[in-house]
Amino acid sequence: MAVPFTPVEIDAIRANTPGCTDDLIHLNHAGSSLPDVSVLDAQIGHLRREAGIGGYEAAEETAEAEAAVYDSIAAMIGGRRHEVARMEHATAAWNAAFWAIPKRPWQRIITHDHDYGANWVAFLRAVEVHGVVIERIPSDAHGQIDLERLASALERPDDIALVSLAWIPTNGGLVNPAAGVGALTRAAGVPFLLDACQAVGQLDIDVESIGCDALSATGRKYLRGPRGSGFLFVHSRAVERFAPAHPDHHGAEWSAIDSYTFAPGATRYEYWEHNHAAWPGLGAAVDVALRLGVDRIQATIAQRAKELREQLVERGMSVHDAGVAKCGIVTMTHPTLDAGEVVSRLATRGVNASSTFLGSARADMEARGLPSLVRLSVHCTTTPAEIQRAATAIGEI
Ligand SMILES: Cc1ncc(COP(=O)(O)O)c(C=O)c1O
Repeated sequence: MAVPFTPVEIDAIRANTPGCTDDLIHLNHAGSSLPDVSVLDAQIGHLRREAGIGGYEAAEETAEAEAAVYDSIAAMIGGRRHEVARMEHATAAWNAAFWAIPKRPWQRIITHDHDYGANWVAFLRAVEVHGVVIERIPSDAHGQIDLERLASALERPDDIALVSLAWIPTNGGLVNPAAGVGALTRAAGVPFLLDACQAVGQLDIDVESIGCDALSATGRKYLRGPRGSGFLFVHSRAVERFAPAHPDHHGAEWSAIDSYTFAPGATRYEYWEHNHAAWPGLGAAVDVALRLGVDRIQATIAQRAKELREQLVERGMSVHDAGVAKCGIVTMTHPTLDAGEVVSRLATRGVNASSTFLGSARADMEARGLPSLVRLSVHCTTTPAEIQRAATAIGEI
């Protein structure tokens, strides 16, 4: 079990994070976190080169650095570099995998109530396009995916297109038992698409022990990377089984006038054009996480979130985070004010928070009868003093 960072270590991390100042308490890391200065330097440095010598020429100069980003990501998640594809954000990554997975009419898409709004919209579109059906696995008594119900659903694997799971949902502190799901899908031979948008950078990840076939991630949240960056992991065993829906001539070679050949590995999911400043920025963010140790980041976040939950309850707030294991996303309702009002009043007190609304996670919000929620998300840069000040501000509004 990793130990949380000491106060001295947190001060050092904050000193390298320009957004960590005394007059702003950023509790919106699940929205977009605060990057390390090396992330800014990587991006701004590249933008200056593009402006100075031309975009293609600047890209040539940084080709090696761009290639190294795949190694960093692979090291962070326990995958291999050719299993990683560059993406603009998590939904782009998730969709690239989702639409690549073969689907036949009447096959089931198995998911959990906590799956993300964008993913649900894709399920509904797949119902129209492929004639598949959606099967919802309910939550167990702890509020996480019910593994027994999933095991029974997997008894007829031939009529399943895929299992989709949000590891950490957008609207709460739940950490779904992804490895439990992976063990069941591996045994059944069913594709497992894991939305790790809120998990990457926050949880110590090993894709082999999780058993997912594809995993989608974004840069700007717990990785503390640039906006408009992300990645997709596709396991080697799934590469030939799935087929990207919209390859370009980088994802596939136009090998003859009437044929194409997919690029090797996960490259087949990429487009040629991309943000050459954001990708090395993401690499810098991953390198920071690796240097700090994701296990220690995870331990620190868990400790801070626990402190926040306790202090909110002490001040009469209702905390709605489900699950056995909880993460850095803390959701609450105020006894009298709606979520939007709480968020704007906090903003005037120098506290950044956000709210989650029905469309982000409708199935879960409706099942639990929840209105919109205030979402307060901590990171390893958050100090106990900030928790205290933010909780006091919430108690006072
Ligand atoms: C669980 C989850 N999945 C996917 C997404 C979408 O990520 P992106 O906006 O990077 O596409 C979010 C965004 O909040 C999320 O919380």
